[in-house]
Amino acid sequence: MLSGGLVPGSVTLLGGQPGVGKSTLLLQSLLHMGRSAPVMLASAEESPEQVRLRAGRLGLGSEELWITPESILPNLLEAVSEVRPEVLVVDSIQTISDPGLAGEPGSVTQVRGCTLRLAQLAKSRGVSVIVVGHVTKDGSLAGPRVLEHMVDTVLSFDGERHHALRTVRALKHRFGPTGELGLFEMTAAGLRGVPDASRLLLADRQPGAPGALVLAAMDGQRPLLAELQSLVSRPSERPGHRSAQGLDPTRLSLVLAVIERWLPFRMSGCDVFVSIAGGMRVQEPAADLAVALGLLSALAGQPLGDELVAFGEVGLSGELRQVAHSSERLAEAYRVGLRRAVVPRSSPDGPAGMALVRVETLSEAVNAVGLSSRFAAPRGGTRATLSLCPSVVARQ
Ligand code: TYD
Ligand code: MG
Repeated sequence: MLSGGLVPGSVTLLGGQPGVGKSTLLLQSLLHMGRSAPVMLASAEESPEQVRLRAGRLGLGSEELWITPESILPNLLEAVSEVRPEVLVVDSIQTISDPGLAGEPGSVTQVRGCTLRLAQLAKSRGVSVIVVGHVTKDGSLAGPRVLEHMVDTVLSFDGERHHALRTVRALKHRFGPTGELGLFEMTAAGLRGVPDASRLLLADRQPGAPGALVLAAMDGQRPLLAELQSLVSRPSERPGHRSAQGLDPTRLSLVLAVIERWLPFRMSGCDVFVSIAGGMRVQEPAADLAVALGLLSALAGQPLGDELVAFGEVGLSGELRQVAHSSERLAEAYRVGLRRAVVPRSSPDGPAGMALVRVETLSEAVNAVGLSSRFAAPRGGTRATLSLCPSVVARQ
């Protein structure tokens, strides 16, 4: 994520929600770096004894790490000049304060003022400083947001509390490209790198489940496969509830609107749920096609087959648009054993052995996966009214 390593004299901000694993990641990193350079942890949140216990649980032992529980900035800086570390971690910026500044620890004035002093320290002594910042779910707390312009690098640590998967991305990086994704799994022995994320994300698939299929996303430079799951309730009189977990809700609304307008399926009174299994997040429009096919498969109660992968952006006229990195997405799908791909018409060829179904419109895609002819309303529901739009009729 840092394209090669920490730059001496740089300041890196690691932001993430409480409990995501920031302290764990940095403790593991520091202990590794401590084998070859003096490193220091300013841990105002946890006592040195707690840190020692955690390091023990992580199976790390003899590496050297200087710890200070100082939360008063001038005292902390004094400790730094005694130890002269090459890397300093401050966990967290919200818990340290400078008596020379107004406000409580964690206030905007304190957080900014302390970061500025730490940045001066980094530049004057060539120390690489990593600052931890807690963000709340809505990002409203005085924290990382107000610091982004003051630091060289901003890393965002994300993950769902209830899933083991964690991602780290560089949102800003002064010394190299952003976009590289770090994938980790939280285990009983700390964070472990995930070498094959696609396989991990697809490990618990239920074969033959309606509404489920694999979508091929890009996270940074790397293709990533994930299982999309959908559920469509029986229609009722009240307006349907919509929920998108791990997906962009505005893309879900768009896909639903396109289905309503251009396809002979009605979901207006149905509750609609789509989610990415495993706690992964996919925000790109390339997920649109999989969302549409998943929803229609769920509505029809017809599985799509376990070897299918789909990606493509759905346009407002029901057309499918090509997305970037098609070849990489197809190669990744082939690697994990998928053999059939529904893609927009202009997509480049995939690996030999991958059957590509190129389609121009969402309606064609639906036909291609065999949904339209086998469509039936969910059991017990009223049969959907098939009102074909003129342009759909024209195309058929
Ligand atoms: P932590 O690093 O304290 O999060 P943060 O600093 O972002 O607030 O990690 C918190 C969670 O990680 C905690 O709920 C327990 C879990 N955890 C593990 O599952 N395995 C481990 O080895 C460790 C150290 C923590
Ligand atoms: Mg912590």
